[in-house]
Amino acid sequence: AEGLAIMTSGGDAAGMNPAIKCAVEYAAAKGYKPFLVYDGLRGLIDDRIVEANRELVSGILHRGGTILRSSRSQRFFDINFRRQAYENLKRRGISKLIVIGGDGSFRALNQFYADFGVPFAGIPATIDNDIAGTDYCLGVDTALNMIRQSVDSIRDTASSFSRAFVIEVMGRHCGYLALTSALSCGAEICLVPELEYDLNAIGARLKHEIDNEGRGYIIAIVAEGVKMSDYLTRWIKDSLEMDARLTVLGHVQRGGSPTVLDRIMAYKFAVAAVEALDAGETNAIMVYRDGTYGHLPIHTVVDSKYKLDPALIRLGAPLGR
Ligand code: F6P
Repeated sequence: AEGLAIMTSGGDAAGMNPAIKCAVEYAAAKGYKPFLVYDGLRGLIDDRIVEANRELVSGILHRGGTILRSSRSQRFFDINFRRQAYENLKRRGISKLIVIGGDGSFRALNQFYADFGVPFAGIPATIDNDIAGTDYCLGVDTALNMIRQSVDSIRDTASSFSRAFVIEVMGRHCGYLALTSALSCGAEICLVPELEYDLNAIGARLKHEIDNEGRGYIIAIVAEGVKMSDYLTRWIKDSLEMDARLTVLGHVQRGGSPTVLDRIMAYKFAVAAVEALDAGETNAIMVYRDGTYGHLPIHTVVDSKYKLDPALIRLGAPLGR
């Protein structure tokens, strides 16, 4: 049987494990011999590749992160190391790859395809939700739920102690996590890189609520990409005369058992990836857009910038003024 290898690459995200499991099982059902690549691109070079079996992918569905581990490899930029990776695949009869990861990983595998003609299918996975062409990346819903749980806890102490809390969330340059969690957690302020904000207007709005409407506490959610968390915390203390604390949520957002949505999305992407390869696609990225699953040529994905849903922007904009 033709070998098909599955790997994870770049930042880990919940949903990777269900995608690995489903890809292994579906590829086997389609008559391929599935393999697992451990440690991402590094493992491809260093030959950490094993034939998959049911046991290797059992009991992993509910676990966050990736059992295959991941890496960001510099060596893969060097053709000699890519050749080494190719030899490892050839020796085992592996002629197709599925990579679960982000833009950077897709680009790397596309270079590998250009060099040695090994077709691959990409499954978008990153909590940042910043991959163009798809409305959804694996890991996002689990990260949002971790954030929601944290903000709900912070609200308990904020309301009990009449304080403001600035909560910094991840997302790199993308404000998706911040905006979505600000709306779902009922934040008063939200700053994201994609939207202009006006501190004077925010100040006037909240001052009015504090003085006339009994507002006793404030929740502000700030995307890490705006680099405003420390400043905003001091600004609230000074301008609104309310005691304020900063919580940087950090890597708790990357972990945790994948939610129902992330598991189901993982299955759908995994099946689509095996089918795309089976149909002869050579470098397609799986996408979910406007309620439909499909795939796009890699260039459409990696050469464009993600766009936030305009409806989300409309809902979130008032939190920045
Ligand atoms: O891309 C995922 C992400 O968690 C970003 O949200 C964050 O900025 C970055 O990775 C953190 O990277 P690292 O895990 O290398 O600290």
